[in-house]
Amino acid sequence: MKVTEVKNICCIGAGYVGGPTMAIIALKCPEIKVTVVDVNQNRIDAWNDEDLTKLPIYEPGLADVVKECRGKNLFFSVDVDKAIDEAEMIFISVNTPTKSYGKGKGMGADLKYIELCARQIARVAKNDKIVVEKSTLPVRTAEAIKSILDHTGSGVKFQILSNPEFLAEGTAIEDLKNADRVLIGGDDTPEGKDAIEALTRIYAHWIPRERILQTNVWSSELSKLTANAFLAQRISSINSISALCESSGANVHEVAKAIGADTRIGGKFLKPSVGFGGSCFQKDILNLVYIAKSYNLHEVANYWEQVIIMNDYQKSRFAENIISTLYNTVSGKKIALLGWAFKKDTNDTRETASMFVADILMSDLADVYAYDPQVTEEQMINDLIYLNTRSEDENRKHLHKGVDPYETCKDAHAIAILTEWDEFVGYDWKRIYENMMKPAFIFDGRNILPHDELRKIGFLVKSLGVG
Ligand code: UDX
Ligand code: ADP
Repeated sequence: MKVTEVKNICCIGAGYVGGPTMAIIALKCPEIKVTVVDVNQNRIDAWNDEDLTKLPIYEPGLADVVKECRGKNLFFSVDVDKAIDEAEMIFISVNTPTKSYGKGKGMGADLKYIELCARQIARVAKNDKIVVEKSTLPVRTAEAIKSILDHTGSGVKFQILSNPEFLAEGTAIEDLKNADRVLIGGDDTPEGKDAIEALTRIYAHWIPRERILQTNVWSSELSKLTANAFLAQRISSINSISALCESSGANVHEVAKAIGADTRIGGKFLKPSVGFGGSCFQKDILNLVYIAKSYNLHEVANYWEQVIIMNDYQKSRFAENIISTLYNTVSGKKIALLGWAFKKDTNDTRETASMFVADILMSDLADVYAYDPQVTEEQMINDLIYLNTRSEDENRKHLHKGVDPYETCKDAHAIAILTEWDEFVGYDWKRIYENMMKPAFIFDGRNILPHDELRKIGFLVKSLGVG
């Protein structure tokens, strides 16, 4: 059987990538039945919850799409085998964290979950299928998936495609609806080309054909890592300049504007911050470094590793600046953190700079109160447990989620802005100032607040990247 017409799609992994991506495919392709499966029953229950505010991930616009399609051609289930069996096309969107053990520890991607998926597909499939890798993977993963699927002995034929996802969290729905490009990598064989065409037809429901780029599998996989590495590199570059600005008296915003006006450089992704977070940038660069090392390209590896070293420096520099400004100690002092998510408009906290800043302050014995409109206290504690600096009890003793921003900042010696949530700008800053310890410091790690107004109220404002 040759797979040319796709009527049923299965997506393994109902996370930040699989959930929104499949919701949009279902929305744009009403004739295709899309089933998103996951081993995590709680996650699937949340996707199926009548109350759309309980969806497992927060993305502007997502609830509307789920409301429109769920139960019609979009389904969420834990019955992985059934969905695999029914589908002509299977997306793999499972997590690929950095390996935490053995060979490649701390650098290479852990492909355990991908491999389990491939084995499950191999076991269950009774007819030919197109398998699409959606998760970000190191170059040549498709080869590993292929090797597992080609040795089932069942006679079933598989085509493996790479179709990396470029959506950014917080703008996922918009990014999916208006993608700059869609990348589809496949084999340069007649069967491979047919599979590429089958997936192209799905995206062509809403993406102009000239924006659907067809490549070989390896180019597609490497393009994803390279795109993220270039984006992260821009942030580390501007963050390195922010340190120089603080020391020299320049203003990083003026510098960013001046260089961004050069159309060859462009103005996007030049916002200095406390450091980039999120599940992709660090992981993908580590992957790139690992791959380069494995080919003995040590200079290439060192070059990209520097992007991460600069990011780590930025996070600790920010926290240490708070400590030194507060007269070299924050022991016993209340420090209020506004923002915990790795960026605004998401509840995702993976690799968020906030946890590293909180951790350094807690090591200096601060009492940290954090407030984020979308992140729970349990999540904050889990992040600190992941860092493994102190016991869970100690973490719970020194980190609290404030009930609301005013309570969080009450009696604080300093406030640090770590995520650029819009609502922070509109707070009653006079009220906050009146209830704080004096001198009242604000460290704006995102440069979103009106600094001149705050200074008039009486705050001592430290603006990132401004000397
Ligand atoms: C990124 C890529 O943008 C996306 O294409 C890919 O599919 C997944 O990885 P994401 O991690 O969701 O997306 O968010 P992104 O908007 O790229 O932000 C990543 C981090 O960089 C955030 O912590 C953000 O605050 C920070 N950032 C971004 C800056 O510090 N400055 C900027 O100018 C831009
Ligand atoms: P991403 O940001 O890449 O989408 P997430 O961690 O948000 O990553 O989502 C990945 C999802 O994949 C998780 O919900 C996890 O339970 C699921 N998953 C991992 N392995 C399997 C598997 N073998 N079968 C089904 N679901 C899986």
